[in-house]
Amino acid sequence: MSELKDAESPEIQTDFDIHSPDIADTVYDVYAEMRGKCPVAHSSHYGGHWVATKYDDIQEVLKNPTVFSSESVNVPGTIGQDGPMIPIEVDPPDHGIYRKLINPLFSPKRMAALEPQIRDIANELIDEMLENKQVDFIQAFAKEFPSRVFLALMGWNLEDSAQFNHWADTIVLGEPGASEERSTEVRTAAAMEVYAYFGEMIDERAESGDAEDITQILINGTFEDRELTQFEVLNILFLFLIGGLHTVQGQLAHSVIYLAEHPEVRKQLVVDPGLVPTAVEEMLRWESAVCPARVVKEDYVLDGVQLKAGDKILIPFGAANHDTSVYPDADVVDLTRDPNPHLAFGAGNHRCVGSHLARLELRVAFEELHRRIPDYRLDPDNPPERHLSQVKGVVSLPLFLGESI
Ligand code: HEM
Repeated sequence: MSELKDAESPEIQTDFDIHSPDIADTVYDVYAEMRGKCPVAHSSHYGGHWVATKYDDIQEVLKNPTVFSSESVNVPGTIGQDGPMIPIEVDPPDHGIYRKLINPLFSPKRMAALEPQIRDIANELIDEMLENKQVDFIQAFAKEFPSRVFLALMGWNLEDSAQFNHWADTIVLGEPGASEERSTEVRTAAAMEVYAYFGEMIDERAESGDAEDITQILINGTFEDRELTQFEVLNILFLFLIGGLHTVQGQLAHSVIYLAEHPEVRKQLVVDPGLVPTAVEEMLRWESAVCPARVVKEDYVLDGVQLKAGDKILIPFGAANHDTSVYPDADVVDLTRDPNPHLAFGAGNHRCVGSHLARLELRVAFEELHRRIPDYRLDPDNPPERHLSQVKGVVSLPLFLGESI
């Protein structure tokens, strides 16, 4: 049996930095190299943490919440929230109690009822896009679409969308290029504004008497035999904002980049919209944006590496979804891939509660975009600008409409 490695072992050290702009374009190559050399590697960034890059190791972490706690899923530890984000930073058994309340808010039935409105939002944005020959897809569609859909879901004012996007960007990205302290400062300030906005919505909706209204359901929600506190409601809403906007934005943008660069693949979608559901899954696998952390609660050996209680470990789902032991042709995009057991929405007890909504948004966007804009191409003089972070995304995406390469 080979000897256990630990945080001091030289052969498992990596310079991996989840917030580094330098590897935003090449992160899947970086993961592949780490998976080959040291699938559970140690990085000295942010006070030191582990990074797992194998599908099976990441599954092992996800399936064992007693050892791998979600009490702090960020590296560094805060993105400006006041207290744990609920339910993502809550462990069992409390986690399950919150999920019982939240799951029905995102049920397939509730989401299906929203589809006509989601389609209208997509088409309004496409109408505006088509007034120009060139657009920045991020500003014109990818940002606005999930933000307006989220406001529609909540029954809040769609005109608050720009403000929402500003808050979500600041909280996810901090102040790009600034120090860690400065980024924490701007994140916290944005988070305080978000809490104030949610507080107003709670006051406004408290007496609405609408049994279907999500804000009202949360205000009247219970945790076992007591009512939820306002603090809990605020931290649930905060997570909806952080979980629901940037993720869909990045997924849309990454998909459009790939489809712009591969017109032959895009054409398959244009000719056969019936491919959209499996195409959405494959794009989720191909570019899996989310990379949460877990806190190790007791000493544990993962893939021959000794983790210690108190350590943090990053579990990039994008790394898992490019693991050739599960996907021998991981670097090939196959729009018909089925089965496709990707981990883009995570797995285990914290599996994404918004996945039905996310899939619906992506399906409608893929359908409407390709029905109305079958041809588009990147601008070779202004390539897309990606960013890393724990929710990988795209900052700008100049696109020529009505033209193909
Ligand atoms: C493409 C879009 C999306 C992706 C890739 C995504 C991905 C994920 C992942 C990987 C997790 C698990 C994190 C972990 O294990 O620590 C998660 C959790 C979560 N997501 Fe999503 N998500 C997306 C869209 C959404 C949307 C639209 C919403 C709702 C507005 C949402 C709300 C949540 C919430 C509340 C959780 C926490 C669940 C829990 O801890 O039990 N997500 N998401």
